[in-house]
Formats: sequence, structure tokens, C-alpha cells
Amino acid sequence: MGGLNRRRLLQYILGTGIGASVISFLYPIVGFILPPRTRASATESHEAGDANALKPNSGVIFRFGNQPALLIRTAEGELRAFTAVCPHLGCTVTYEPDSKVIWCPCHNGMFDLHGRNIAGPPPRPLDEYQVNVRDGKIIVSKGA
Ligand code: FES
Repeated sequence: MGGLNRRRLLQYILGTGIGASVISFLYPIVGFILPPRTRASATESHEAGDANALKPNSGVIFRFGNQPALLIRTAEGELRAFTAVCPHLGCTVTYEPDSKVIWCPCHNGMFDLHGRNIAGPPPRPLDEYQVNVRDGKIIVSKGA
């Protein structure tokens, strides 16, 4: 009787150990194959700082959901925002005040201040976002 109980206990421990090992092995694989759902609707509009903080002819990178975005105040004082993800291979673009272009350091890609690709390998323009100022705060929005 005592031997039978020990055998069952041993089988139980081994069984759960093997089961836990299999689960711990498969969990990351399943997580990779079935990525978590992203909440795109929650990233439609973001605050990008105080309207007076950004000087003319400058740019700043900020988070737009889970992606970097670029906010520019042109030399004329107009605010513009774009995705900061280069459409070539995904590097983060920056604003270059000396040449007044948006520049991708990875392969020397360049965009004008409307986000149009003007030099280098980027195959298309940067996605542009809407910019509004509300109560002194810059609000950047995606979509119509
Ligand atoms: S990743 Fe931007 S130019 Fe290649």
C-alpha cells in the first residue's frame, strides 16, 4: 500500500514536471506565432508637449503609441508631424535643421518637410499626422 502511494506520488511529480517543461517550451513559440493584439484605436491621438516649447526650425521625436514619431516646427513656425519610422528598413528619422530636411541616418535617406522622399533608398513618403494645438498642448492625430 505504502509502495503504491509512493509510486503514484512519483508519477504525479514526474508527470507535472514533464507537463510544465512542455508548456514552458511551447508557450514562447505559440506567443511568437500568435502575437498579441495591438490596440490601434488607442493610439490615434497623442499629446506631443507644450506648443511654445518647440523652437522654429527644430524637431523632436516623441512616442505615438508604440512607434516613434517626429514633430517639426518649420522655420516659418508651422507644426508638422510624421511617423519617424523610415519606410526603407525602419530606422528612426530625425530633423536636420541645417539642411531643413528629414534625414534617415541608416542609408542617407532624405525627405522634404512634407514627408516626401527626395533622396536615397526610401521607396515612399513618410506617413503624415494631423497636428492641432489645444489649451497650449500639441495634439498629434492619425487618420482623417
Ligand atoms: S532605413 Fe532609412 S534609408 Fe534605409
